[in-house]
Amino acid sequence: MYLGLDIGTSAVKALLMTATGGTVGSADGELRVSRLRPGWSEQDPDDWTAACRKAIRALSRKHPREWAAISGIGLSGQMHGAVLIDDVGKPVRPCILWNDGRSEDECRELENRADFRGISGNILMAGFTAPKLEWIARNEPESFRRIRKVLLPKDYVRLWLTGEYVSDMSDASGTLWMDVGARRWSSELLSATGLTVDNMPALVEGTEVSGRLRTPLAEEWGIPEVPVGGGGGDNAATACGMGVLEAGTGFLSLGTSGVLFAATQSFAPNAGQAVHAFCHAVPDTWHQMGVILSAVDSLNWLADLTGRQAPELSAMLPKAVAEPSSVTFLPYLSGERTPHNDPGARGMFEGLSRATDLADLSQAIMEGVAFAFADCVDALSVAGTRIETAFAVGGGAKSDQWLQIIAAAAGLRLLVPAEGDYSAAYGAAKLGMAADLGEAGQASFVAPAIIREIGPDAGLADRYRDRRQKYKALYPALKGSR
Ligand code: XUL
Repeated sequence: MYLGLDIGTSAVKALLMTATGGTVGSADGELRVSRLRPGWSEQDPDDWTAACRKAIRALSRKHPREWAAISGIGLSGQMHGAVLIDDVGKPVRPCILWNDGRSEDECRELENRADFRGISGNILMAGFTAPKLEWIARNEPESFRRIRKVLLPKDYVRLWLTGEYVSDMSDASGTLWMDVGARRWSSELLSATGLTVDNMPALVEGTEVSGRLRTPLAEEWGIPEVPVGGGGGDNAATACGMGVLEAGTGFLSLGTSGVLFAATQSFAPNAGQAVHAFCHAVPDTWHQMGVILSAVDSLNWLADLTGRQAPELSAMLPKAVAEPSSVTFLPYLSGERTPHNDPGARGMFEGLSRATDLADLSQAIMEGVAFAFADCVDALSVAGTRIETAFAVGGGAKSDQWLQIIAAAAGLRLLVPAEGDYSAAYGAAKLGMAADLGEAGQASFVAPAIIREIGPDAGLADRYRDRRQKYKALYPALKGSR
C-alpha cells in the first residue's frame, strides 16, 4: 500500500493506493484561504499539518487493514507558496500562496537584477516564489531577517513527516531560483533576492527517497518508518498518475484554474508568452504548461451571482453545440498568466443585447475559457510543442458541451479517461511507490483507459476561427484603456 498526500488550496487529500495502482479510498481535510486584502491569499502552514492529521485519521479508520500495510508515502502540493522558516524550524509568517498577486512591482524589479528568463527559462510572474521574497524584504524586513530556510507547501509537510529539508525538481522549478535546464539551484538567481543555496532545501528527483517517517508519527499511526518520496508539484504529480511522461503526451485540466500540460524530453522554454517550463517529477524529463487563472472559476462566478450551480449552467447549452454564443467573454477575473502575464487583466462580456439570456452568458464563459486554452496551445507551440491530443480531467471536464467547445476552439482531440481518480494525490502515491521500489515503481506510470474521444467538429471550428479573432482583439483594447 502507498499513501499519497496532496496539499491543495481548498483541502488536503490523503489517498491509499495498492501496489497495482488501485485506489482503496481517500479522505479530505478542509483548508481555508485568508484574503486580508484584494489580491492577497495566505494560509497558515500549521493548518496543512492539522488537515493532514485529520485526513489521515479518517482514512486509517475507514481502511485499518490496508493502512497497516503502508510501505511508502508520496507528496504533492499547490506550487509556488513561500513558507519562511526560522532557525527553530517554525514558520516566520503565514504562507503567501500561488494565487496571490501582490508582488507585481517586485517582478519588474527582479527582471532588472538578474537573468531570470535565461537561467530559469520562465518569466517572473506574481504567483511565483522569488518575487514574494522580494516583497517580504521590502515590506516586512523583520520577517526577512528571521528566514533560515524557504520551503514550498508540500515540503513543509515533509519537514513535519521526516524532519528533513528537501524539495523535488518539479515543485522547486516554480520558485524561479532554479537553473531548470541543469536541475539545480542557481546562486545567481538566489542572490538577486538576498538568499543563498543554504537557505534552500536539498533537491531530489520526485522518484527518489527524501527521508523516512519520524518515529513519533510512525508510532502514533501504527506503521513502520516508511520512506517518503520526493513527490512533485500538483500538476507534475497529476501527470505521473496519468502516465504523461513522454513528449507528445499531455493533459488539459478544467478546474478552478485551467492547465494545459505537455511533457517534453528536454528543457524548452517560451518565457515571452508566459509558458511555464519546469522540470518534470521524473529524472531527465521536463514539461511545459499554459496556466489560466479562472477556468471553472469563471462559471462558478456566474453561478454564484445567479444562485445556481456551475453544472446547471453548462447543462443549459444544446447537447451538440453548433453556433457560437452571441456574446464574447474574457475570463481574466483574477488576472491572467499564459499568454499575458498580467495580474491586473480583468474579464468582460462583449455583445450583450436585450435578448441575451443566461444560457448565452454561460456559453460565452465556456467559449472564453476555450479561447484561453487555444492561446495556451499556441504559446506551447512557439516553445516547440504542437499538442494535438490531451487527457481531459477536472470538474469542468464532466460537461460534454464544454469539451466539444474546447476541442473545436483549440483544435484538440480530447481523451476522456475511464471513471477513476486522476488527482494529484494519486500521482503522489505513485511517486511514493517509485521511491520505495525504484525502476519497478516507475513502470507503474501508465495511461488510463479511454472511454471517449472528442475531436474538433469542422463546422464549429470554422465559426470559432472568426470569433477567436474578436476575442484576441479585446484584451489589447481593454489594456489600452486601463
Ligand atoms: C501552477 C499553479 C497552480 C497551483 C495550484 O503553476 O500555480 O496549478 O499549483 O495548485
